[in-house]
Amino acid sequence: MNSDKPASPSLPSHVAVIMDGNNRWAKQRQLSSAEGHKKGVAALRELVRYCSELDGINVLTVFAFSSENWQRSDEEVNAIMGLMLQAMVNELPELNENGVRMHIVGDRSGLSEGLIQRIENAELSTLQNDGMHLVIAINYGGRWDIMNAAKSLLEEAQKEERNINEITENDFAQFLSLSEFSDPDLLIRTGGEHRISNFLLWQAAYSELYFTEVFWPAFRMIDFWRAIRVYQQRERRYGR
Ligand code: FPP
Repeated sequence: MNSDKPASPSLPSHVAVIMDGNNRWAKQRQLSSAEGHKKGVAALRELVRYCSELDGINVLTVFAFSSENWQRSDEEVNAIMGLMLQAMVNELPELNENGVRMHIVGDRSGLSEGLIQRIENAELSTLQNDGMHLVIAINYGGRWDIMNAAKSLLEEAQKEERNINEITENDFAQFLSLSEFSDPDLLIRTGGEHRISNFLLWQAAYSELYFTEVFWPAFRMIDFWRAIRVYQQRERRYGR
């Protein structure tokens, strides 16, 4: 990693992003939805590059495809899946150069064999890196995550004949996606909507939420810093 990266003690250690507004950005410019998503990938590339050089941001989690996104037209779903297939190969050199470790979370059973293979290869190829973690949520839903964890916990509890009353929040949380990371400190949503849309329902319980009107493809580092500034001005009380 870069040695002259700017350091700040109050940067959020874990930033999560709902990258919304690709279609509206494209429509405004009379471009296809695929063009919007392509620009979305470019915006993500820029953010990953930037965050990986910042001392203090350890995890960046992005919502690339939700469990609900399958309801879009075949053409759009294919375009997004095609971009992911490409990215899993084309982005690797730069991710490795920047020391970024990539993790994919979500229900892989709904993905194509080819994509699963490339995901596994990308995770393996970046496994030894010691910089920022980039978590990409694909075919992910917060409710799916919680249901999945509940089933796994139940299975374990039955097998080990555990007393249900002794099960703690931590026992449950270890079965969730992102269990190896601290919860997001800051959750950014672009595109003007003020909701979480089934993203990290459990993990974002105490995240600071930041909403911006900017469409994801137009999201620049100045917009990122606006979010960071607002985060730094907030007082986090965790219910205290
Ligand atoms: C939301 O915009 C964006 C998505 C559903 C897809 C985001 C996907 C990417 C940026 C590509 C991901 C690729 C990799 C490699 C991670 P929208 O289509 O909902 O826009 P709208 O709100 O204007 O309709």
